[in-house]
Amino acid sequence: MKIESLLGDSHSVQISEVIRETPLVRTLRFSYENRMSILPGQFFMIWIPGIDEIPMSISAQDESSLSITVLPLGEATQKLCSLTAGDWIGIRGPFGSSFDMTSKKVLVIGGGVGMAPLRPLVYTLLKQNTEVTLLIAAKTKDELVFFNEYSGISSSKFSLELSTDDGSLGYKGLATEAAKVLLQENEYDMLYTCGPELMMAGLYRLSQEFKTPVQASLERFMKCGCGICGTCAMDPTGHLVCVDGPVFRGEQLANFNDFGRYYRDAVGIKKKY
Ligand SMILES: Cc1cc2nc3c(=O)[nH]c(=O)nc-3n(C[C@H](O)[C@H](O)[C@H](O)COP(=O)(O)OP(=O)(O)OC[C@H]3O[C@@H](n4cnc5c(N)ncnc54)[C@H](O)[C@@H]3O)c2cc1C
Ligand code: FES
Repeated sequence: MKIESLLGDSHSVQISEVIRETPLVRTLRFSYENRMSILPGQFFMIWIPGIDEIPMSISAQDESSLSITVLPLGEATQKLCSLTAGDWIGIRGPFGSSFDMTSKKVLVIGGGVGMAPLRPLVYTLLKQNTEVTLLIAAKTKDELVFFNEYSGISSSKFSLELSTDDGSLGYKGLATEAAKVLLQENEYDMLYTCGPELMMAGLYRLSQEFKTPVQASLERFMKCGCGICGTCAMDPTGHLVCVDGPVFRGEQLANFNDFGRYYRDAVGIKKKY
């Protein structure tokens, strides 16, 4: 086995563009000439020199570049969001599972920066003529990630729904409540989701109630990103989010005791959601 296929192919890359998606969220574009095929849902470990290496989903890919879309939370993500064109970062990957995209009429639900891995998914589904309803959810309208981009799509196969906790745009309430209304009025053959885990756990319960299959992209603390350290193991099955996930199907989520209940922090201590 080649070492790159285990640890991920690593490169230094120069940021070519920084896009302001919301007052906080930034998309960083950088050149990527490898042309390794990266599937919707996969992620890279991003090295921020002098600070840390952290997992980030790929939010866009074209022939010569990749993008990541970052919400500043702690030291590493804040530093990433402060970078400008010309700055360098390290990338290692691609890692993890991808979304299964064989369905015909789907509901995609993204909460906050959880929209990042869903963006390549939505475009791939539309390219293959799948009927897509996209629900973008956030606390308030300024935090709706990629809202302007998706509101510009005009296609009979695409519809955009919005929900905000404060009702400043779209449905007033939680993403799960908005999704329930859509599920009551329409029949989908797949739900896809990424966002806060409590939201995804609520959507998983809806998928059971409406007998609709679901795929969710989970986030866990990661150190190696490639199956060596065990930091990202789910209880009690031991599935590794970095290798077996981050995208899991409903049947797999059903076996995870920690899904929507607790996670483990950087040193492995259980923390409640
Ligand atoms: C597969 C995967 C893909 C991801 N994709 C994206 C993305 O596209 N865009 C994006 O902005 N973020 C993404 N993340 C989350 C991102 O990796 C974390 O926000 C980042 O590691 C935090 O690092 P920090 O040093 O900035 O903050 P820290 O100081 O490490 O943490 C800040 C806060 O965030 C919490 N936190 C940190 N990491 C995680 C985690 N993995 N799961 C749950 N809570 C966490 C901590 O508990 C703390 O409260 C992804 C995570 C995974 C596992
Ligand atoms: S992050 Fe090391 S095993 Fe998943």
